[in-house]
Amino acid sequence: MKNEIVKVKCVDFTFDGQGLAKDENKRTYFVPSLLIEEEAEIEVLYHKKDYDIGKIKKLTKLSPYRINPRCPCATACGGCSFQNLLYEKELEYKRKVAIKILKTIGRIDIKNPSIIGMEDPYYYRNKIQVPFGYDKQKRLVYGFYRFKSHEIVPISECVIESKEHVSILKDIKDLMLSMKISAYDEDKDSGILRHVLIRVGKDSKEIMVVLVVKEKSFKNKGVFVKELIKLHPEITTIIYNYNLRKTNVILGEKEEVAYGKGYIFDTLLGVKFKISSKSFYQINHDQCEKLYSLAISKANLNKEYEILDAYCGIGTIGLIASKYVKSVLGVEIVEEAIIDANENVKINNINNAKFIVSDAKDVILKKAYDCVFVDPPRKGLDPKFLKGILNSHPKKIVYISCDVGTLARDLSILKKNYDIESIDFVDMFPRTYHIETVALLHLKNTKNL
Ligand SMILES: C[S@@+](CC[C@H](N)C(=O)[O-])C[C@H]1O[C@@H](n2cnc3c(N)ncnc32)[C@H](O)[C@@H]1O
Repeated sequence: MKNEIVKVKCVDFTFDGQGLAKDENKRTYFVPSLLIEEEAEIEVLYHKKDYDIGKIKKLTKLSPYRINPRCPCATACGGCSFQNLLYEKELEYKRKVAIKILKTIGRIDIKNPSIIGMEDPYYYRNKIQVPFGYDKQKRLVYGFYRFKSHEIVPISECVIESKEHVSILKDIKDLMLSMKISAYDEDKDSGILRHVLIRVGKDSKEIMVVLVVKEKSFKNKGVFVKELIKLHPEITTIIYNYNLRKTNVILGEKEEVAYGKGYIFDTLLGVKFKISSKSFYQINHDQCEKLYSLAISKANLNKEYEILDAYCGIGTIGLIASKYVKSVLGVEIVEEAIIDANENVKINNINNAKFIVSDAKDVILKKAYDCVFVDPPRKGLDPKFLKGILNSHPKKIVYISCDVGTLARDLSILKKNYDIESIDFVDMFPRTYHIETVALLHLKNTKNL
């Protein structure tokens, strides 16, 4: 029953990193921050037919792997699941869960998948996007949405975000107060500043600030930017993004560059990339280099190879792979990302790569590529694109995935024609439950297909 206090023991983690606990009658409870083998008195917050969701009131038996979270907002914000767990154990758990998901959803048994962790699993995110709004006392706040809600949990510092963000966000708030620039109020659909997005180039040290606003013109619009630059000369570009609709999509379509060139650069494995506000760019620079190195080495490329980089973003994988192959074609749905990708071709003096805007489902595979790299969003491969791949018989597929569940689903279809040679994990998102996977597939003997 709601608000009841129950004694439970944690027996496992759920796929999203919550403690899965049982009481003496074997009833199931989902309890955030409770670790395996721990015992606790919990308060039931939501009562459901088959399970309850609770929160820890008192820990009565502690795990030897429990550590103090570094983040002051660790429990409130819900962005991280494992701030209180030794990092080695987090890696062990993520690997175990991913193997289980591949087996249950995809019927895939893999031998000894590796997991590549981070040396220092903090301050790695090069992008932050935070909503601005008001708390119950009508005070201006910014932060992250509380788990499964639209209530903003104020943040002073986030220990997985790169450190540059902290003082920029604080100064944006102070400038808003002094210049009487309001934050957007979702309920009333009024106010000005909705979100702030900050992107930092790890190698270039360039910083992009995107101010997502509800109105195209408002008092102090220009002065706000000037003052922000005075306080933070390290910011290299500021963009106003206009999101005029009542929506929870963060970015609007139209933008105006208010300061600087409107984009930043960063370097990955020696290749320089131009990154615009709307283009996808991996959030963990160092782990991304490990991920791409792994994916490219698995493909065992050579100078005869014609490769397809599907869901290519700004062309990162294809351009890094380009020096090992004959040709690269990249495909991506976001036009701004393809503009970046084709500029990245020129910036790096690459002459065997081209990138086109297209929805993956509309790509017609006219030939059997030697290798197809796919790196789709969480929902996985579009069924039409998947069918196109199966019909065109590429020799190898390197599937990079940020969602093991949809990867398992897609692999269960691909494995009819492909042998799954290897699956490995890269921890791109330490302290959260997310994980990145690289799967290498080889075409089976085509005579049998
Ligand atoms: C996980 S990101 C990978 C991007 C790139 N490979 C990288 O590592 O930076 C997925 C990309 O797929 C793009 N995308 C999403 N849906 C798509 C679709 N239906 N067709 C083509 N590209 C799509 C997104 O815009 C995004 O750039």
